[in-house]
Amino acid sequence: MKATDLRGILEYSARFRDKIFVLNVDSEVLAADNFHNLLLDISVLRSLNIKIVLVHGASHQIRILSQEMNVPASDMGGMGITDEPTLRLAILAANRLAHEILEGLSDTDQRAVVSNAIIAHPAGILNGVDQQWTGQVERVDGDFLKRLLEAGIIPVISPLGFDGNGKTYRVNSDGVALEVSEALKAEKLMFLSTSNGLRSAGKLSAQFSVEECRNFLRDHRSALPPEMTSKLEHGIRACENGVSRVHIIDGRQDEALLTEIFSSEGIGTMIHANEYVAIRSAKKKDAGVIQDLIRESVATQQLLPRTRKEIARDIADFYVFEIDNTVVGCVGLKLYRDATPSAAELECLFVSDAHANQGIGRKLMLFVEDRARSLGCKQLLALSTQAFNYFQQKGGFREATPDMLPHERRLKYDQSGRNSKILLKDLS
Ligand code: ARG
Repeated sequence: MKATDLRGILEYSARFRDKIFVLNVDSEVLAADNFHNLLLDISVLRSLNIKIVLVHGASHQIRILSQEMNVPASDMGGMGITDEPTLRLAILAANRLAHEILEGLSDTDQRAVVSNAIIAHPAGILNGVDQQWTGQVERVDGDFLKRLLEAGIIPVISPLGFDGNGKTYRVNSDGVALEVSEALKAEKLMFLSTSNGLRSAGKLSAQFSVEECRNFLRDHRSALPPEMTSKLEHGIRACENGVSRVHIIDGRQDEALLTEIFSSEGIGTMIHANEYVAIRSAKKKDAGVIQDLIRESVATQQLLPRTRKEIARDIADFYVFEIDNTVVGCVGLKLYRDATPSAAELECLFVSDAHANQGIGRKLMLFVEDRARSLGCKQLLALSTQAFNYFQQKGGFREATPDMLPHERRLKYDQSGRNSKILLKDLS
């Protein structure tokens, strides 16, 4: 582990102390080998004073019970009609699961209770079809849950709702988790499911703003499995109603939960209502951080060596890419004083390995390009020994010759002996 990782962990543990995290654990995850590790990770969160509410699903176990008992279920996934035999299966499955969760939590020395905090009413007739014992969450007894949390107790919440007249309804756990996180003004809603969300589907899906996620759903809904759509939709609603961040992670993967929470890049897919990434001007105190960041690239001769002093002296030329207050990338923009037409050089572009392939380099490039344009530059140059393809493909630069460099820069270029390629982009 590097010191920078530790800085990240400390940043997040301070940020999340005393906050409420609602974990919605899919029924497959409860049945997986990793479940015990997950409980250990929950103890880690508790030791940092993070308050945990554990919501769980039951469909996997309802399916198994239905086969074992030879009782056909009217719906498996928790999104359809619940007839009476299925309600009985659901109650049985939910109680067994809640008991297993309590056992596991006892095993890791944590206090927990199963409650009747979910108040539900019948979902009623949808599109002309009576949903029978399928319920809709009407209200969450947030007061009750808060008191438990204040006392250091973990509320365990099954996908069942009570109507206040002695009746129980089967409710969808994604819906329950959403309502609970809203009622408690949770910091996070985390779906512990069977995949890392959309992370594997493409590079840009590691995180979304609410707006990006809405657009993504609009364009890709038909290609997504219904469980994923449900999580994204519930996630968007949570973020619209006060939850800062929603995460989808693979609960069966060892350490996924802790990696998502304590690293800046995470492991799953996140929807964020609050600021996550930013590009800003570097400050004096960033000089050491920038030097650490580019050290390896300097060693492999990709970037020019710079002392901390030199970086500090030229700090006004630098910009950093920050994720949750941790610097993960940098770029410089140096104006040529003696160039006609006026021009500048993009320099020292770097993104840390852990954050590679997420389009951060491109964002930094575009940022600097805009900046150069607004400073009246007509040309942007870049010198590169190893990334010239990148500049051409991602940045729209073309190869140029050293005589394109203004006089002063040309002298330095010749002295350095690096023989970098010269890349040029006309700014209009
Ligand atoms: N650790 C931070 C958090 O819990 C950031 C997680 C980022 N995750 C992601 N999939 N991009 O809020």
